[in-house]
Amino acid sequence: MKICKTIREMREQCEAARRDGKRLGLVPTMGALHEGHLSLVRTAKKSYGVVAVSIFVNPTQFGPNEDLAKYPRNFEQDCELLEKERVELLFAPTVEEMYPQGVVTWVTVEGLSEKLDGSSRPGHFRGVTTVVAKLFHIVQPDAAIFGQKDAAQVAIIRRMVRDLKFAVEIVACPIVRERDGLALSSRNAYLDLTQRRQAQVLYRSLMRVEEMWEAGEKNVTKLIEAGRGEIGRERSVRLDYFEIVDAENLDTVTNAERGALVAVAAFVGTTRLIDNVVLGE
Ligand code: PAF
Repeated sequence: MKICKTIREMREQCEAARRDGKRLGLVPTMGALHEGHLSLVRTAKKSYGVVAVSIFVNPTQFGPNEDLAKYPRNFEQDCELLEKERVELLFAPTVEEMYPQGVVTWVTVEGLSEKLDGSSRPGHFRGVTTVVAKLFHIVQPDAAIFGQKDAAQVAIIRRMVRDLKFAVEIVACPIVRERDGLALSSRNAYLDLTQRRQAQVLYRSLMRVEEMWEAGEKNVTKLIEAGRGEIGRERSVRLDYFEIVDAENLDTVTNAERGALVAVAAFVGTTRLIDNVVLGE
């Protein structure tokens, strides 16, 4: 695996791959890799001749009181995991390399970026779309592969790609879960044993809503009430949002049709976790 720390090196490697007629799949990550990330890499490996992974803990998507400083960083171990998956290219720039003069130029998907996580994490999605646009310019991949756990992120990136005419296919891969349903996340590393058990309530709340929907309940108010109620039963877990929205534009819906996105975010201790299901999938 070739590790590129500079934009120039990464561009050269990607250009060489394209000259060889190889199709390029990009998996953007912030490192602290787990099976969820590796499932994205494996999907990319199936369809693309060269797989590039980026590891960059992007400061512009963290709020001032968020976990940027303590976000798990595990570069050596990440490299070993990627070597095992036979990844060809790793882009691991420094903050100075990506933002040498700070940021005044932003890419913002207005309207969508304020919804779901965007409402409780102001500026978060603006940071995501700005860094992802930069990565797309540097790598110029044929496809970029993201996890469906960040469903709002996927919807916002798809809209950015459509509006800015990036020639990049966006592929979303299913959520990878622990045996008890907890969605894999780098932030699960913050949880102690008690919190780890409490965190199961996110998935339980989604399953409760899905069961009701499958039994015929389509009223969004009732479904949300049930989901929130389930979270409420785990007293030490603090709900951030529980919403049912259109999976593409993230607008709230009144009737829960097949394909609607049921999304939850909650604090377990100080750790904010998210999860979702798409109804009927
Ligand atoms: O999903 C993530 O890990 C990040 O938001 C991303 C897409 C790598 C941008 O920093």
